[in-house]
Amino acid sequence: MSISDLVTRGIRPLVAYHVPRPEGIRAKLDANELPYALPPEAAAALGRELAEVELNRYPEADPVELRALIAADLGVAPGALVFGNGSDELIALLCAAFAEPRKGATRAGVLYPDPTFVVYRLAALGHGLEPIEITLDDEMELDFELVDDALAGRRPNLAFFALPNNPTGTLWAPEKVAELAARHPDTIFVSDEAYIQYGGRTLLPRLAELPNLVIMRTLSKIGMASLRVGFVVAAPAIVHELEKLRMPYNLGSLNQRAAVWILRHHKAWFTERARELLGERERLAVALRAFPEIKVFPSEANLLLVRIGRAGDGRAAALYRALAARGIMVRNFDRPGPLAGCLRITPGTPAENDLLLAELPAALGPAA
Ligand SMILES: Cc1ncc(COP(=O)(O)O)c(C=O)c1O
Repeated sequence: MSISDLVTRGIRPLVAYHVPRPEGIRAKLDANELPYALPPEAAAALGRELAEVELNRYPEADPVELRALIAADLGVAPGALVFGNGSDELIALLCAAFAEPRKGATRAGVLYPDPTFVVYRLAALGHGLEPIEITLDDEMELDFELVDDALAGRRPNLAFFALPNNPTGTLWAPEKVAELAARHPDTIFVSDEAYIQYGGRTLLPRLAELPNLVIMRTLSKIGMASLRVGFVVAAPAIVHELEKLRMPYNLGSLNQRAAVWILRHHKAWFTERARELLGERERLAVALRAFPEIKVFPSEANLLLVRIGRAGDGRAAALYRALAARGIMVRNFDRPGPLAGCLRITPGTPAENDLLLAELPAALGPAA
């Protein structure tokens, strides 16, 4: 018996989430962030606000101000919200709270389309749950009949749908997810609306009639990724269980204060920047489609999934390296599997996108 025998079985084959941070980045297009930081005067005012925080004290265990602001914005009861240190933490909390195997089963199941946001898989395996993956078709679309069959046959405890999806950018019909939630009331359905500002349609209005629906949001994609603030909106029975497991003080004081201040004073500014980014996404998509060896998948998020050449020919990985050598960071997904040949590009500022487009022909090299 050794320590390695003590590791949760599902975790053993995993590799840690790695974020490359090379020197000399000129365009950071790899993490689905909003590329705009607060303007200097606003950042200075925020600095003064944060200077008032007593760093020797624990944070508010219940982020009351943030809760009130967001609840009012969404038109929901403050008690319908649970906050996480990023929505990553909430995904893990959901897996921890709803991990009881059904009668006769050895493990509880977690259903999600594949490829999708990697944290669903990590959180499921980390909590000893069984991933149930529904493979997307070649256009990264979801076959809802397959989902329905798996829900009926495998009866997962949880089902995650990123609407729109990362890293594909596709938006599968949210109404169909709601329909399935109504048909399978003993599975918890999570509508992960991280990218809602970029083209999603929220299922929030369906919450009242679907007690097994959870809406998940984050501030990360609208200019506040560093703050690590995510939240879910859910029925009282679900909130009650999640609150039992949420660690006290999971949101730092600086993060709470900054989020409140930004939402009060600069939400409109960030919303406008996010709207501008839609224009940049379209400009980039059109320019990339002009390259015959690049396929651009349709996107409703602040990302573009592209396939370079053919799956398995190594051109995408080569392009990733060539761009990185030029200071342009994108996300490399080129490995065997459904994303072979794929890179994910987060639209940046107009200048960053111009740089990408200027460097692309040389980085691509001669056509194969
Ligand atoms: C679909 C989806 N959900 C959730 C998250 C995590 O967001 P957060 O920064 O709030 O942890 C991401 C981050 O990329 C995402 O793509």
